[in-house]
Amino acid sequence: MGKPKILVIYYSTYGHVKTIAEAEVRGLQKSGTVDAELYQFPETLPGDVLEKMHAAPHDTSVPEITTELLAEADGFLVGFPTRFGVAPAQVKTFFDATGSLWSKGALLGKPMGMFFSTASQHGGQESTAFSFLPHLVHHGLIYVPLGTPSPYMYETDAIVGGSPWGGGVIAGGDGSLQPTFKEIEIAEIQGEKFAEIACKLNAPEPAKTPVASDKPASEQPASEQPASATPKPASPVKEGGRFQRFVDKFKNLFKA
Ligand SMILES: Cc1cc2nc3c(=O)[nH]c(=O)nc-3n(C[C@H](O)[C@H](O)[C@H](O)COP(=O)(O)O)c2cc1C
Repeated sequence: MGKPKILVIYYSTYGHVKTIAEAEVRGLQKSGTVDAELYQFPETLPGDVLEKMHAAPHDTSVPEITTELLAEADGFLVGFPTRFGVAPAQVKTFFDATGSLWSKGALLGKPMGMFFSTASQHGGQESTAFSFLPHLVHHGLIYVPLGTPSPYMYETDAIVGGSPWGGGVIAGGDGSLQPTFKEIEIAEIQGEKFAEIACKLNAPEPAKTPVASDKPASEQPASEQPASATPKPASPVKEGGRFQRFVDKFKNLFKA
């Protein structure tokens, strides 16, 4: 069995989140236990709008993420700047295209952590994380928070990005602040810790001890007879009922 493959995927208009993403990759690599790959979310804003925003030139050296790549990977560290306290549309647009992965349960049980950038100290790093959680929950992704593994996270006499929700950088209102060595170290720690958890989740399953239900039905005690032999409790979802028809229709939307 090879090493778990962890994708670090970022969106960054001005480059702050990109720097943190590179630190996350270094942290993952430092662990020596996973393979790390860096990707960016596709841009959705037109060029003239980006120009008016004074966005950094598009970095063509980092490949764009695709839904196929997500399905093949074993875990994700995803980073983005806040937009009014929530995730940017670029990230939301990409996740809105993952319906077919959802219908197949392709991301179920995979770990995902997050990291952020805000202009100001209270600009919404935590609300950005919190409001993104439904995406993880609906896909069955396992959220891996950062906790507080670095002493820098307790500092009160300096501005330090990042929180127990994930690494982060404070960019300043005009974007002139660059990620500090503390913010970069926190991101490297996040990468290293994430690798530990991803490896635990990817460890081979222990051998299964046979249980009574593995025996042929005829050899099982009456209390452990298969469902067909014992009366089924009434299901709240009626087969062929309105809700069932809705679920089938929704799933058909995403059939390849
Ligand atoms: C439309 C828009 C909304 C923003 N909303 C917030 C916000 O709510 N709080 C905040 O601190 N910064 C906000 N910012 C600033 C960005 O978060 C900041 O530019 C970003 O963190 C820099 O990261 P980057 O260099 O990776 O793009 C906003 C920026 C834009 C363009």
